[in-house]
Amino acid sequence: MVNPSYISALKNPIFRTISKASKNLNLESYVIGGFVRDFLLKRGEAKDIDIVAVGSGIELAQEVSKLLPGKPKVSVFKTYGTAMLKSGGIELEFVGARKESYSVESRNPAVENGTLEDDQNRRDFTINALALSLSDDNFGELLDPFNGVEDLQNKIIRTPLDPDITYSDDPLRMLRAIRFATQLDFTIEKDSLEAITRNAERIKIISKERIVDELNKILLANVPSKGFALLHKTRLLPFILPELVALQGIDEKEGQTHKDNFWHTLEVVDNISKATDDLWLRWAALLHDIGKAPTKRFDKKLGWTFHTHEFVGAKMVYKLFKRLKMPLNDKMKFVQKMVLMSSRPIGLADEEVTDSAVRRLIFDAGENVEDLMTLCEADITTKNPKKFKKYHANFQLVRDKIVEVEERDHVRNFQPPVTGEEIMETFNLKPSREIGIIKDAIKEAILEGEIPNEYGAAREFMLKKGTEIGLKAIK
Ligand code: CTP
Repeated sequence: MVNPSYISALKNPIFRTISKASKNLNLESYVIGGFVRDFLLKRGEAKDIDIVAVGSGIELAQEVSKLLPGKPKVSVFKTYGTAMLKSGGIELEFVGARKESYSVESRNPAVENGTLEDDQNRRDFTINALALSLSDDNFGELLDPFNGVEDLQNKIIRTPLDPDITYSDDPLRMLRAIRFATQLDFTIEKDSLEAITRNAERIKIISKERIVDELNKILLANVPSKGFALLHKTRLLPFILPELVALQGIDEKEGQTHKDNFWHTLEVVDNISKATDDLWLRWAALLHDIGKAPTKRFDKKLGWTFHTHEFVGAKMVYKLFKRLKMPLNDKMKFVQKMVLMSSRPIGLADEEVTDSAVRRLIFDAGENVEDLMTLCEADITTKNPKKFKKYHANFQLVRDKIVEVEERDHVRNFQPPVTGEEIMETFNLKPSREIGIIKDAIKEAILEGEIPNEYGAAREFMLKKGTEIGLKAIK
């Protein structure tokens, strides 16, 4: 059978350069992996291109560099036998075709030179093992020994080898399988899914950073719940995010039940993903209820309660980020803040929406108030259409009020209109408790709407308050 040709995938002149370099070195080379897959899926042109040489990938990279204008720098990774260069915004990664077997203890492979087919064999999925030839005589020919094209058409994730071998060789691939299934909306073939479940525990040898990379990609997909449901089904989740697993299940006492907070959380993540591409807001949605497992109680009068779950959840966010070696920076603080405040707007929308409650919300949420509203709207997962409509309508009221109050009172980035220094000068005070008392009283008066957020009114209020606590103004 004649293999189809995909010369149109190789329009970028860089491919002819690689072809020429391969000829100079008298070796075969191929484009492989994500570039070919994404071309066939029409996912747009990839910026990372993987080249496999039947011979030395490092030498090929050096030869390519010689032929390119400006001779771009080649970075060599000797231990892995790979080399990288950048040209015209594209990152080219070169590797020699290899046979590999991994040790049980780590992901570091013992490498032996091999043929193209050996190399395709050791790749993760049939859809990632597709190769396009860069040789002169069959430039653009597709080499697809495992029917990767068919799997692409049928939307299937399948391993070239026995899945137990592929996953146990490199357990990160279990997460990659789930990530690709989620990103591309593919199905993981049955044997593969079973192998992942069998090998789940081996995920322990993978570094946290790489796990988080995959989690982030799952979270950034259109329907992230697909990935988390698969992580749950394959029993990978307990090794990665046990806090989420703890949310699963429905308890019953005296005929009273609560919702399954795991599946609810996944719905919230899908909902928020329709409204935002912000990774950290999506993380906030994923973690917004984690405090519910440790705070769950049954009370004879109140039924199931999760008192202080937002506070406990926010603390858990820090531990979780630390464990997963995620950044402990402003992103983490943002997620904590969202979790901590996640019930605030709901409390508001239940009752009549007062100006002062909205002012306090804006004051506490600051610049994140819109994100908080987005999270809370996503949190509405009731299947009762009347309630669904009512909650959304109430949140719209809150949103409208936020705009109105903010326009008038500017409390979002609240700066006290009267400074501590002015209080000291006015009452001839040294640094003391009284200053704090007056400052707080002014802030409270503004938030309660007793006075507008303006200098004149605040100064007048300061004088009144000072007199009340026995101070005398000297200015
Ligand atoms: N690969 C593999 N096993 C891994 C990682 C990668 O077999 N654990 C192979 C696959 O053939 C993959 C190629 O290396 O296509 C390149 O890997 P990478 O750049 O990580 O992924 P892409 O497939 O290019 O996809 P994406 O950019 O979406 O991650």
